[in-house]
Amino acid sequence: MIKFKINGSEVEAEPGWTVLETARHYGIEIPTLCYHEAVSASGACRLCMVELKDGDWSKLVASCIYPVAEGINIHTDTPRVQNVRRWIFEMLLAQCPASADIKELAKKHGVESTRFSVENPDEDCMVCGLCTRACDEIVGLSAISIMDRGVHKKIGAPFSRPTEVCVACGCCVTICPTGAMRTLIESVRETADVTLTPLAI
Ligand code: SF4
Ligand code: SF4
Ligand code: FES
Repeated sequence: MIKFKINGSEVEAEPGWTVLETARHYGIEIPTLCYHEAVSASGACRLCMVELKDGDWSKLVASCIYPVAEGINIHTDTPRVQNVRRWIFEMLLAQCPASADIKELAKKHGVESTRFSVENPDEDCMVCGLCTRACDEIVGLSAISIMDRGVHKKIGAPFSRPTEVCVACGCCVTICPTGAMRTLIESVRETADVTLTPLAI
């Protein structure tokens, strides 16, 4: 077992665990959006940042992709962590202002407005790719992917057309942290009258 500290308390982790997995094992809350234990972590949203301290020196790391190591000293709720979380929530409120789920999570962490400009008031997708990883890794179909680049990145089926590869299993809808896939799925499914029953993950 690997021994290290979270918030001053000694914890033990299996080799290969991440800081987030260890924190959750011990019931320590770290907010996440693009992470789900059923698929590989991508480190896309950075909401799970924690502070890794070593004496006077420290750095912020994304806990969902940061592997545990003997003797590290992790803090999950320092002023520096709170600041970066606030900043990320403000970015997300501007990036996907139509997502009630993002608003609710941000509010839970004391963030109800953003200093960043809103480009599209109807946007609710943060392009975290969790839905595509679920389709790839859980369902094994790769019916959807991240298309385009930079600010034009979006989720969809190849050529932005409905695809018969999608079996309307609803896994992507269930796992989406912003609620965006509830509407995006309509442009992915080949047969519009298939009743979508979100899969329990
Ligand atoms: S639809 Fe949801 S899961 Fe997929 S990229 Fe957008 S926010 Fe992430
Ligand atoms: S509903 Fe379609 S796109 Fe979504 S996970 Fe299932 S097969 Fe993939
Ligand atoms: S939850 Fe870790 S980067 Fe998104």
